[in-house]
Amino acid sequence: MKVLVTGGIGYIGSHTCVELLNQGHEVVIVDNLYNAKIEVLSYIKKITNKEVTFYEVDVCDYDAMKEIFAKESIDSIIHFAGYKAVGESVSKPVEYYTNNIYSTLILTRLMKEYDCKKFVFSSSATVYGDPDVVPIVETAKLGPTTNPYGTSKLMLEKILTDIQAANPDWTIILLRYFNPIGGHSSGLLGEDPKGIPNNLMPYIMKVANKDLACLGVFGDDYNTPDGTGVRDYIHVVDLGVGHVKALENIANDGVHIYNLGTGIGYSVLDVINTFEKVNGVPVPYKIQPRRAGDIAECYADSSKALEDLGWQATKTLEDMCKDAWNYVLSQK
Ligand code: WQD
Repeated sequence: MKVLVTGGIGYIGSHTCVELLNQGHEVVIVDNLYNAKIEVLSYIKKITNKEVTFYEVDVCDYDAMKEIFAKESIDSIIHFAGYKAVGESVSKPVEYYTNNIYSTLILTRLMKEYDCKKFVFSSSATVYGDPDVVPIVETAKLGPTTNPYGTSKLMLEKILTDIQAANPDWTIILLRYFNPIGGHSSGLLGEDPKGIPNNLMPYIMKVANKDLACLGVFGDDYNTPDGTGVRDYIHVVDLGVGHVKALENIANDGVHIYNLGTGIGYSVLDVINTFEKVNGVPVPYKIQPRRAGDIAECYADSSKALEDLGWQATKTLEDMCKDAWNYVLSQK
């Protein structure tokens, strides 16, 4: 299958491209390099020993995207490209709604024009808001979301559902990610956000590497086993494999929704302790007040993905911490 991967130079996108290539698929990457480094393209090729077609284009540029569709006979699309920083989305709602929604509308318009009928969307567990019940199943109530990033994902799920209703022979797959962390075993691919990280693992990596002095733990008074926030951390390679399984195993028309998580909830202190233990490096931390918008607990019931896609996460928290640190060491 020839797969168009938007945002394919990014963190989750690059790991997914590796898995697509490993399974023999042809990959066409579109990325504007807003939040990605071009050398990742060479790492994808080095890891897989496969060729990849790359266009440095903004998905919101209809004319440029039209040229790509005209040139490449695209069978399916995996749409990663989008802004994804929760905190930033609160101060930049217009940018987030414009970029995340308009890029998706451009792609679906071109799907219509070029008879492409399969679309995989990078959604997020954020669409569940603060869950009433954990583990979370796909039929759980949605929202309310607490930031424009999460709201854009929820809106896009509804937009894509409407578009599929108008195109009944299309297959739309909504993958709700939990908390992706870790990196490729080669040490060539990993999470490397610009500036001060918003998310837990990249912050831990910088503290362990002494780029930052101390990790702030946002609250230890939640109703959780040790009082700190509990999340479903999933290895980014497992996540990449989940996308390939979804593309390969969902053939019938309609809208298909899957949680991609491990089904295990770990607290912030669990992650810190595991990271220190498996890597033998200290991660000094200090308890801070809760972060606005944070929820106590969020972890997946991914049994539907196992049943329909034949997919389940295989890597442990130890693997994730090891591969995250291995990536830092490989960058030195
Ligand atoms: C995890 C836990 C924090 C940083 C968000 C988005 C989600 C996805 C992943 C994009 C929480 C605690 C964090 C720190 C801390 N993003 N924490 N100190 O908020 O669960 O999910 O990122 O796809 O859509 O909602 O991830 O890594 O920010 O936080 O104590 O410096 O770590 O309170 O309990 P989150 P996170």
